[in-house]
Amino acid sequence: MSAQTLQPQVVDTDKLVDRKLVLYFYLASLTFLFVSMLGGFLMALQLIRHNPFSGIELFSPGRWRMIHTNAVAYGFLANGLLGSMFWAVPRLTLRPVLSSHLSWFIFIAWQAVVLATAGGILFGQAQGLEWGETPTWIDPVALLGLALVVVNFLPPILMTPGPLYVTLWYFMAALVWTFLTYAMGNFMPEYFVTGSAAGAVGGLFIHDLVGLFVTPIGWGLMYYFVPILLKKPIWSHGLSLVGFWGLAFFYPLQGIHHFLYTPIPMFLQYGAVISTIAVELVVATVIINFFGTLRGSGSAFITNLPIRWFYTGMVFYFLTCLQCAFQTTLTFQAIIHFTDWVVGHAHLVMFGVFGLWIQGVMTYLMPRLLGHEWYSRKLCEWHFWLSSISLFAMAVDLIAGGLVQGTVWRALLPWEVSIDASMPFWVVRVFTGIGMFAGQIVFYVNIYRTWQLGLRPAPAAAPTSTELPAVVAAT
Ligand code: HEM
Repeated sequence: MSAQTLQPQVVDTDKLVDRKLVLYFYLASLTFLFVSMLGGFLMALQLIRHNPFSGIELFSPGRWRMIHTNAVAYGFLANGLLGSMFWAVPRLTLRPVLSSHLSWFIFIAWQAVVLATAGGILFGQAQGLEWGETPTWIDPVALLGLALVVVNFLPPILMTPGPLYVTLWYFMAALVWTFLTYAMGNFMPEYFVTGSAAGAVGGLFIHDLVGLFVTPIGWGLMYYFVPILLKKPIWSHGLSLVGFWGLAFFYPLQGIHHFLYTPIPMFLQYGAVISTIAVELVVATVIINFFGTLRGSGSAFITNLPIRWFYTGMVFYFLTCLQCAFQTTLTFQAIIHFTDWVVGHAHLVMFGVFGLWIQGVMTYLMPRLLGHEWYSRKLCEWHFWLSSISLFAMAVDLIAGGLVQGTVWRALLPWEVSIDASMPFWVVRVFTGIGMFAGQIVFYVNIYRTWQLGLRPAPAAAPTSTELPAVVAAT
């Protein structure tokens, strides 16, 4: 073997990443979050009988509820996760993704599909499957788009000589699982199964979308960014693999826990309860691993903003799982099923965990993408505190409201009593929503001002690499 081949290869990872593409994914993500929040408001106002567009079909809250959830999943979270993968995969594999043209095509096609879905929902073409409301004619296009995502990301990962870092395990699995999950949820109930079997598949679909798409990419990103920001390896690689294989084995089985006490066979319901408990243990290993990594660097939680976003998300993750330990039991389900408890849980996990992680990643990367440090550290702080406190308040409010609703229903009181009892909780939700919304506005202003600063010729070199976190990571 020549001496040359023994030399470690020096690869300029900056050149492997298309920063503009990552930035565009993030901007699309934040735009959809904005639209989604507007939809959330409309629904929240309707519930307190203050719908400003009452009687206008196009603004009917039922439709905007679907826009809210679809924009959150496929607009905000998916764009944020994909953008982050376009940053992380080339850096981890030291190879570019398959094709730059394909990457841009995916970006445009993704936005087109999400917008077409929103349009279809608004004009009454929604399908009756949660998160699968996408009009029928869009389903095959979306699946094809997911296949292109797999084709674009897998080559650099597969060409990487092992052993693969755990982040790449998660990404690889998420790519394949998401394709399969989407196919299962959008085609099986439509063409192959009916009745309660279709309901069971629907349950699997919504939960697998969270567990086999959002969760593995989210965990993968944390395994990538946390060690970089704390400048030390992850606490236990063994534990990180326990998390990966545990997720792979147990997550796909638990979706039916959404449908306890339904005509779905009891053995499937019990199976879902048991696998949910197993997933609790798996998530515990991941959380332990991250807090083990933080040991000895606790001050980063205060001084390093991205780390603060990440670990606040992890605390919320712990709370979500604690909540889940109760709500997966049949005893507890008898009270909270169909109540706002579940809506509180959904906000805690979707925004409180994955939303916070994505915003933490954006807080870290935006200055690198815009070519300038944050315009204002103070605005960064406002963004964090408004988002996290308001979200936590919303979750507590809805969880408490759910307990009240469940108790009133069990007492067999008239339905109106439960509406009256819910009203204070729904009013509080509107105000906590305003807080979350304000957090985003602050973020947008900060991004805009930072972008303006980035346009000016910089007196000193702007930060360009993840390995240069001195100024920005300290923020
Ligand atoms: C301005 C802030 C927000 C407000 C006012 C709001 C309000 C609402 C409302 C009223 C619903 C319908 C509840 C029902 O049907 O009874 C809902 C559902 C939902 N929201 Fe939000 N939301 C906000 C932000 C978010 C964010 C940022 C996310 C995720 C990142 C999110 C995720 C969800 C999910 C997943 C559901 C479905 C819950 C379920 O079906 O159990 N929301 N939201």
